[in-house]
This record gives sequence, C-alpha cells and structure tokens, in this order.
Amino acid sequence: MSEADLPVEARTVRLEVARTSADGADAGRRDVFDVPYDDRTSVLDALQWVKDHADPTLTFRWSCKMAVCGSCGVMVNGRPVLGCETFVRGYRTSGLVVEPLAHAEVLRDLVVDTDTFLGKLAAVQPWLVPAGATRLPLVDAPAEDPAPDRGEDALRAHGPSSGSLQTPGELAAFKGFAECIDCMLCYAACPQLDPAPDFLGPAVVATARRWDEDSRDAGELDRADVLDTEFGAWPCIQVGACTQVCPKGVDPARALRDAQRVATETWEARSRRG
Ligand code: SF4
Ligand code: FES
Repeated sequence: MSEADLPVEARTVRLEVARTSADGADAGRRDVFDVPYDDRTSVLDALQWVKDHADPTLTFRWSCKMAVCGSCGVMVNGRPVLGCETFVRGYRTSGLVVEPLAHAEVLRDLVVDTDTFLGKLAAVQPWLVPAGATRLPLVDAPAEDPAPDRGEDALRAHGPSSGSLQTPGELAAFKGFAECIDCMLCYAACPQLDPAPDFLGPAVVATARRWDEDSRDAGELDRADVLDTEFGAWPCIQVGACTQVCPKGVDPARALRDAQRVATETWEARSRRG
C-alpha cells in the first residue's frame, strides 16, 4: 500500500530538526520526529505538532500564518522558505531537514538574530525623505506637550488634495519593491554573505530602491552614500538566488542591478564634470 492510500491519520513524515540551546552548548545536534500530516499540513504546523506532542522546548518563530509577517523563515532541505506557506506533502518521500536561516547568528533552535539585518536596513533610511525635510535626530528628543486635537473638520480641510499625489505610473515604479516583508529568505540564499558578511544584501538594497524610486522622496543622495560603497551594492555578482527564493516576487536582484547602474552613471557624470 502506498503512502497516498493510507488513511490520513496514519500518514507520517520524517522531520529532522537542527537544535541549538540558548547557551549554544549543543550546536550541531539534530532531533528526528515522525510527524502525522495531511494535505493541509504546513512546515509550521509540523513544527507546532512537535512542540505540542513530542518536545515543548522546540523553539521557532511565527506570527501571521499567512505569508505576511515574514517571521517564520527556515531552511527546508537546504532551501529558505516560509514555514507557513510550505506544505509537508511536497516532502512525503524525502522527509524534511529543517534548519535555521543561513547567514544569520542562531539564538536558539530555529530562531536567528535579526539585529544585524535591521541595522543594515536602518542605514539606508527606509522611509520617505521629503524635499527640504529637517533631519530628525537619531536619539529620542524630550517629549513635548501633545499637539491640540484639531478634530475631524480640520482633517477634512487637509484631505487628499493637500498630500503628495502620485499617478498610477509613479506608484508602479516602486510598488514591486514595496512588497518586501523582511523575511530574510534572500539573505539565506545569497552566496555573497559568506565572503562579505557586511554586504548590505538583497532586501536592504531593494528597500533603498523602493524609496529612491518614489516620486515623493528626496533621499537618493543620502542613500547613495551607503549604496555606492565597498559593502553597499557592489558585492552582488548577480547570481539571482535572492529573486528565486523571494516569496513575494520582489526581485531584489533587479534592485541590486539598478543600484549598481545608478552608482556607475553618477560616477561617470561627476567624472565628466571634473
Ligand atoms: S526581498 Fe523577498 S526574500 Fe528578501 S526579505 Fe524581502 S520578501 Fe523576503
Ligand atoms: S507566520 Fe507570518 S509569514 Fe509565516
């Protein structure tokens, strides 16, 4: 009788999970579990089954279970995926080897440190820099008295016609890059994070391009100071693995190509001017 002929309650899949304790003492340990599954069982469901029925100490991250929050990324059989949208049925014969995302420090089991990534993200000012904006200090300013509540009438008076309007074409210029959910799968897939761990990396450059391409933004020169550097956009050698694994279709490889092209054009223009 084949696996597919078995009643759902009798189907199990082999799940091998990398384990690391909080003090790092048992790094390299692997635990194996036989996990029941049906056609709707995700990798995240399988990990939760282990936590509920076999080992409550197994540690992993998730929040939305709908491919939106970006927190459930893991390596499955060597490929970075979102655990909540990857189904066990695709591994029924091979089994699953589940490991923490590559190119990130492991804090415990499948949980990796995100601080390095978030630090790189902050470096490219991932927010709208309006023309003529006053630079905000990077430390908390003393709290001021709250602004008086002007009420709904005042809000209506400053409705959409007073904002920075965009055409559909202007929106389309950056919308693809704005889909990023900061899941770090592209970092796990990038071969350049090994030789150049300080490389800003795919998602950060995609985010920088998201704002550079925004018609309301005037922060391109500030971001260029970070992108056109040894560890900015230049370590990318266009393997394209980042784009292949991205669960949101962001195409960070194109963002890196664009960033390198813009940096080259800017350098050439400055050289011509002498
Ligand atoms: S670019 Fe794609 S893979 Fe990389 S962090 Fe954003 S959503 Fe995830
Ligand atoms: S749990 Fe939010 S993306 Fe998977």
